[in-house]
Amino acid sequence: MAKSLFVCQSCGAEHRKWMGQCTDCGDWNAVTEQVIEAAAIRSVGKGQALEASSITSINLENSPRRSTYIEELDRVLGGGLVPGSAVLIGGDPGIGKSTLLLQAAAKLAADKKNGTVLYITGEESIQQVHLRGERIDALHDDLLLISACELESILATIAKLKPSTVIIDSIQTTVSSRLSSAPGTVSQVRDCSAALIQHAKAHGHVVILVGHVTKQGALAGPRVLEHMVDAVIYFEGDRGHAHRILRAVKNRFGPAGEIGVFEMCDRGLIGIRDASRLFLAERAKDTPGSVVLACMEGTRPLMVEVQALIAPTVYATPKRSAVGVDANRVGMLTAVLERRIGLPLSQHDVYINIAGGARIAEPAADLAILLAMVSAFQDKPVPEDIAVFGEVGLTGEVRPVGQPEARAKEAVNLGFSRILLPAENHERVQKANIIANMRSDNAKPLVLTAVRHLSEAAQKIL
Ligand code: TYD
Ligand code: MG
Repeated sequence: MAKSLFVCQSCGAEHRKWMGQCTDCGDWNAVTEQVIEAAAIRSVGKGQALEASSITSINLENSPRRSTYIEELDRVLGGGLVPGSAVLIGGDPGIGKSTLLLQAAAKLAADKKNGTVLYITGEESIQQVHLRGERIDALHDDLLLISACELESILATIAKLKPSTVIIDSIQTTVSSRLSSAPGTVSQVRDCSAALIQHAKAHGHVVILVGHVTKQGALAGPRVLEHMVDAVIYFEGDRGHAHRILRAVKNRFGPAGEIGVFEMCDRGLIGIRDASRLFLAERAKDTPGSVVLACMEGTRPLMVEVQALIAPTVYATPKRSAVGVDANRVGMLTAVLERRIGLPLSQHDVYINIAGGARIAEPAADLAILLAMVSAFQDKPVPEDIAVFGEVGLTGEVRPVGQPEARAKEAVNLGFSRILLPAENHERVQKANIIANMRSDNAKPLVLTAVRHLSEAAQKIL
């Protein structure tokens, strides 16, 4: 008798009976029935003793990284693609995953060292891919296209062509004929990925999997997929903005948290080296509620504008709303302001926005958010030449943050001449001897304003 199991398509949890809401992840209408394939019972053979190598004797010569010649992508990958590795790239539909990978594929194919690149599309026809390639100048003889969904034929093609890099666009359209479940289901995604990754490891080519994301923004399919691959990269961005951020959330071969910034234009994606300038481009000067924050994204400093708006509420419970930062954190910071500075915010709505669509998850943003709120509430602008960083605790104390020198340097590069920073970071930044206004004639030392408490910070700059 065929047995069936009910599997959540969001998180991969298995249930004995059908349910409307998955009890594991809380998603509605995600549990579907799957027939369990009878597993062949194999006898356990005798294992063979394997050769062990000393960690110092392992030869790295034959696995150099392959540059994609897209600087922002290489940065996120930790310097390039590592042969034999698997990379998962996720993002909303239409964000530019296929465009970026086609650009990278053409660049990889153009490098004589690499051999061919195989781009497998399960969503578009090869004519469509060609047209796009023509438009974004991503054509090369060694870039091979196939339009295929069936795993077995894909594996056979890879084995025949022996490409250096395989791009699967997307893993949700890939199906194994061995399984009866529909494309995109947990078991299909898991089995197809496992087979593709195993093939890549065995043959030393790179495999890049494109993954769709759910409404909540997580990669669709089982979480196990994230464990199986070597790097997980998210492509994110606002529909309202032309720029896109590529973010490594996991990377076995490089630092995680690294970001790459691109702009989508009519000829594909263009890397933006000077991301801070982009995020500060439309900054309103001398406006209350605007503070420039020096934050870190991975190893890269980034300057962004934090905006706050505070308005008398019409609701029984005032609104606390945040775009680009964690709303819970804003709630907490609002409480700190009320208690430690005495701002009567219980009758006011608080809105926080990170201009330009950036997303900041660092506690080092606290001080900037708080000062933006104070500035908005008092209707006094923060001087425009000041950049701010620092974490703030519940008692209002300002705490030191990591990499203060890098933040200060980036601020100076963008023309800031004063920095408000935690007292405990002061010495490190001072030692770095950063000169402000390097480019103009009136070079002078950077002015550092060190603070220990939120109230001191507000007093010194407002
Ligand atoms: P695409 O790479 O197909 O997204 P994904 O694979 O992540 O679903 O990107 C499609 C979007 O990008 C589409 O809305 C059109 C836009 N686009 C440009 O603006 N310029 C271009 O040169 C290209 C190729 C696409
Ligand atoms: Mg696509």
